[in-house]
Formats: sequence, C-alpha cells, structure tokens
Amino acid sequence: MISKAKGYDHLFQNLIPNSIDGIKIFGVEDQYVKPQDYDSINNLENRIWAELYQNLEFLLDQYASSEYLLGLRALPIPNNMFPDFSAISPLLENSTGWTLLSVAGFLDEELFFEINKKRQFPVTEIIRKSPRFDEKYSGTDIKNNKGYTPEPDIFHDIQAHVPFLMNKDYAKFMWEIGILGDEIIKDHRNLGPELVTHNLKRLQNFAWWTYEYGLLKNNGASDNYRRAHNDIQYEIYGAGIISSFDEVTNVVECAKGKSDRSIFLPYDIEEIVLTCFDYSNIQDRYYVIESMEGLYCSFRENKEIFLFEG
Ligand SMILES: [Fe+2]
Repeated sequence: MISKAKGYDHLFQNLIPNSIDGIKIFGVEDQYVKPQDYDSINNLENRIWAELYQNLEFLLDQYASSEYLLGLRALPIPNNMFPDFSAISPLLENSTGWTLLSVAGFLDEELFFEINKKRQFPVTEIIRKSPRFDEKYSGTDIKNNKGYTPEPDIFHDIQAHVPFLMNKDYAKFMWEIGILGDEIIKDHRNLGPELVTHNLKRLQNFAWWTYEYGLLKNNGASDNYRRAHNDIQYEIYGAGIISSFDEVTNVVECAKGKSDRSIFLPYDIEEIVLTCFDYSNIQDRYYVIESMEGLYCSFRENKEIFLFEG
C-alpha cells in the first residue's frame, strides 16, 4: 500500500479529507480473486439491480455518449436481473482483448494497475443496498483518498464501466492508464514515496474528472443512436454519473438551467490533475471534453504531468 504521504498536497485545490476506514484492502499477496457465484444470487438482489437499471434506462438512452450506448447493446447486461460475468467476459475479450476479473473487494493501487496492465477489469459481485453489501461494509464510511480503487458494487462496475470497454479506442486508453499507474508506482526515476503518492493522486484526479465524472460536448451526431433527442449541450461519458440516477438528473437539471448546484467547465488537464473531489456527494463541477479523441490525445501528450518531479 502506498504511504499516505501529504508532502505536495499544498499544490492541490479543493482538498477534501476523504478516507477509507476499517475496510479490507486487497493486495498482491492476498486471495483477491473471488469467482462470481451466480447460483447464490437471490430475488432481492435481482430486484435491486432491476430497480437501479430501469430507473436509469431511458435517461441514459437520451443522454449517455454513443460509445456507451453501442457497448451496452452489444453485451448481455439484463435490465431485470444480475449479469453473468461468464457471458459478458468472452464478448469483451473478442472485441477489445479485455476480460472481467471477479474480485473480493477494494484493491490497492499496485494490484489494480497490475490487473489493468493485463487488460483485466476488476468487478465485484455484490450490489449496493443489499443485505450482503451492508454486512460486508457495515460500520464503514466508504470514501476514498488513499488510492486508485474501484467502488465495490456490481452495478457501477458492469452497468457503467463495462460497456465502454467494448470500444477499441476507449479500451486502449484505459490500458494506457494502467501502464502509467504502474510506471508511477515502480518509480524508475527514483522520485521517492512522497512524489509517488502525489503523482498517484494526480492520476486519481484525472480519472475522476474524466472517465468517472466527465461530460462530452453534444454535437448532435449521436442522436441516431437514441430513442429520444438529447436536448442538452452535453453527453455523459463518466461512469460515476451513469450508475447514479441522482447524478444524471443533476447534470440534466443544471444543463437546462433548472438548478445551479453544479457548474460546467472546459476540460483542462493541468487544472483537473490538481483538483480534488468529494467522493460522497453530487459533484460540484463537471469538466467537458470536446471529443473522446481529444481526451485520449491530451492524456498521451501530457504524461509528464503525472511524473512530476517536485
Ligand atoms: Fe468507477
């Protein structure tokens, strides 16, 4: 586990003291692989999935990016019951080389990037709001500042992230993030633990404001893929928005001028890597990219930003 160094925290804006307390974080040495036990899923869990999914289904059809919609249509992700990892993973592999890896919970950074480097996407088999989830995380305030960890919920992992991994360019971008994370941790430049932690936080901020909570400018072209016309200036590509009814609704309300809870800012890589976030609330801002290709290029051209030398 990377130390909780704060040496360069003064460079960050919007510093929010999130943390994961009392939670098991799995590392390379642990038994972190936990195959999905599909037969143990009960009706209540299927009902929670169905409710979450169906609440968002039409909203996402109208506002999610075309990469998401196309990926979703190509995968067996049911709207009324838990998805079966063994039905999804081979299709993903066939399309972009990624596979699903069913894991036991939070992973530390080292393990997370190791897995990503192999084009494996870690997914958890329990769903929020279920007794199984409550039991596992009872007494835990699930917030995150220690590292680059996936949220422990099957809905977010499968409904929001996985469809994007069917897109070749997106899948390559996610793989490159894994490679870079691994490079930061291995610290071949001998920057030391303070700077390694600082650079991981930069990458975590980047991830947050892009593939977790990012928006894409709506140029109208993706209406072909929708049942209803997208009537706001943005398309949603952030997985953290996509798996949350409240967050999607907030984006739409703010975009239509019916709420001023959040602001829309132009994507600026230098700004976002230094901007921290609140894990537990509706976001106060969303960064808007001009195109997915522009995002990938910006990441590739600015890798040095994540290897800051102090
Ligand atoms: Fe996520």
